[in-house]
Amino acid sequence: MTDQELIQKAVEMQKFSYIPYSHFPVGAALLCGDGRVFTGCNVENAAYGSTICAERTALVKAVSEGCTSGFTTLAIAGKGPDYCWPCGACRQMLYEFAPDLLVLAVRGDGQFAQAALRDLLPHGFGPDNLG
Ligand code: THU
Repeated sequence: MTDQELIQKAVEMQKFSYIPYSHFPVGAALLCGDGRVFTGCNVENAAYGSTICAERTALVKAVSEGCTSGFTTLAIAGKGPDYCWPCGACRQMLYEFAPDLLVLAVRGDGQFAQAALRDLLPHGFGPDNLG
């Protein structure tokens, strides 16, 4: 699975976004070490704070299917002019399962930028910090 193929899967997931409030579709595709790809989209809610982001949808799908480790790369695709970096809550949730993740942030024209999750969440709090 190449970065471009993963990005393509993330972009395709935008069609499932449930976005009556923001009208901002986001798709995500998370690559597991065993080659499986888990995808997700953002799902909004009338109680806005109950909205779940695309990347958290993908992560929760993976964990609920028994895939809890070995994640290598995550593509997040928005439709705006800026790269779609994960929000703070998603960075934290991803750090729990994939501190060494590579994040590909995709913008509307298909261009992307990449960063390590450890750089997006420096000094992150994870399972090891509980002693
Ligand atoms: N959103 C995501 O799905 N992922 C991100 O990384 C940024 C934000 C969603 C949440 C909400 O449905 C919409 O984008 C606007 O914030």
